[in-house]
Amino acid sequence: MSDDTNIEKAIEQVNGVLAGNPRAPHVKAFFHEPTFTATYVVSDDQTKRAAIIDSVWDFDQPSGRTSLEAADEIIDYVREAGLTVDWILETHAHADHLSAAPYLQEKLGGEMAIGRDIVTVQGVFGKVFNEGTEFERDGSQFDRLLEDGDELMIGDIPLIALHVPGHTPADIAYIVGDAAFIGDTMFMPDYGSARADFPGGNARNLYRSVRRLMRLPDKTRVFLCHDYKAPNRTEFVWETTMLAQRTANVHLHEDVDEDEFVDMRTQRDATLEMPRLILPAIQVNMRGGHLPPPEDDGTSYLKMPVNKL
Ligand SMILES: [Fe+2]
Repeated sequence: MSDDTNIEKAIEQVNGVLAGNPRAPHVKAFFHEPTFTATYVVSDDQTKRAAIIDSVWDFDQPSGRTSLEAADEIIDYVREAGLTVDWILETHAHADHLSAAPYLQEKLGGEMAIGRDIVTVQGVFGKVFNEGTEFERDGSQFDRLLEDGDELMIGDIPLIALHVPGHTPADIAYIVGDAAFIGDTMFMPDYGSARADFPGGNARNLYRSVRRLMRLPDKTRVFLCHDYKAPNRTEFVWETTMLAQRTANVHLHEDVDEDEFVDMRTQRDATLEMPRLILPAIQVNMRGGHLPPPEDDGTSYLKMPVNKL
């Protein structure tokens, strides 16, 4: 009934791992409370190969100071566990935190990858920040640009990249063994979905991306990029299952149709403030986690476009 061979390949992979072939990956989560972000180190216990997904570079907006606290915690874990990092992955160009990918790469090695449509994001935000030609909009800040269906390995454990646009045009979900790292698509079932109103965002695409992810088996372990603690909940939680999403996600459970979701999402987005760190985060993340080139005094400066967002 479907000619979507990439999701079918992912379903087959998850089912294989659930049946024990190959083994399931080990997932270690680090929750960064200042930005409500979950960073993951996903590894193969046998070969000790690993990937890092969605790292955080601390940034204090009032002072303009960066710090490496969160990134160093990841590095300590990787070293103590004796892991070799093959991949440093982003689910998308984040608007709410700066990525520590270049620093992690310098300390741990591995290749940096993001979705190929980062070039669209670079085009859109290159304009927002009135960047000159020195800002390359070809994704060359990354080692690898991923397309839907691309396959990587973490040791013996396969990873399939799925393009899941909506929150941004470039979002990728990483299906590693039986674990799905779904970025900003769905959040916990009691919280719902990611916003779709940033430049290049699209609620209809988000709905379609989620319906595609929901074809993954019930027992797929689902790992989120953020948790904002829904009302009535006292703990942060960033892991759930596809069954829970499909049956209980408040915005996207299986009885919600596309138009209903688009109306809800559009109305809700109209009430949301811009994320606190969107201006610094996008300027850094569209450069693969690098600051803009230093000016003649050796300092990098971040811009604040007035009345543009
Ligand atoms: Fe995001």
